Amino acid sequence: DSLWLIVPAAGQGKRMGADKPKQYLEIAEQSILTHTLQRLYAAFPQAQLVLCLDNDDQWFNPAWVPFPHWQRVTGGVERMGSVLNALQAMPAQAADVVMVHDVARPCVTPEDLRALYQAASEHPDGALLAMPVADTMKRASVDQLSVATVPRDGLWHALTPQGFRYALLREALEYAVDNGCIVTDEASAVEALGRTPLLVSGRRDNVKVTHPGDLALASAIMASQVACVSE
Ligand code: CTP
Ligand code: MG
Repeated sequence: DSLWLIVPAAGQGKRMGADKPKQYLEIAEQSILTHTLQRLYAAFPQAQLVLCLDNDDQWFNPAWVPFPHWQRVTGGVERMGSVLNALQAMPAQAADVVMVHDVARPCVTPEDLRALYQAASEHPDGALLAMPVADTMKRASVDQLSVATVPRDGLWHALTPQGFRYALLREALEYAVDNGCIVTDEASAVEALGRTPLLVSGRRDNVKVTHPGDLALASAIMASQVACVSE
């Protein structure tokens, strides 16, 4: 069986509010997209990559793709549409493992990537990187008053990558589209089929660059990771 990677990179980065989509902002003189692809390539040099890009993208440079085997597909209106376009374009086999990783998570480590691939290969319902919730969780009213405390036992943050057998992921996303569900990650679509992906405890520094302050955060995380490696 082979490994396929899908990197949804067709978002506009509205919350970041920069003059270009956030995947093209730079950390240490390289685009976030470049960092993310390099991390994936370091862990899986044999994988086949499908990159989802907006049709109007003016910033993408194919020289930033380190993989010898890759293709681009058009993004969808929502993230799930982008991922489904990728699944429909790839000549994968039913049993191949497909891992989906946000382009906006450039701090993911090779260890977490390999752990997730291992879990996704072994677990029939797939797997996702995640971390247990550490803060006390509040339920808010519409006028932002704290009306209840949600017990955090059993609550996790969903991260990426998330990995599934090709056939399961495709069935799940097609089911979500047919039923008008908008899911923000692959695991939600798989859960809607009654399946139960495995939560794989991942590093807390696998942040998603979303808001303006996150760029400095991701930059500091990367610098600290390099420092660890060279010790
Ligand atoms: N994405 C995509 N296609 C879309 C929307 C999002 O491929 N139609 C991708 C983004 O590029 C990103 C990932 O999905 O890698 C997670 O989305 P998010 O963090 O929400 O990124 P954006 O949609 O770009 O940001 P925002 O929601 O602030 O506009
Ligand atoms: Mg978005």
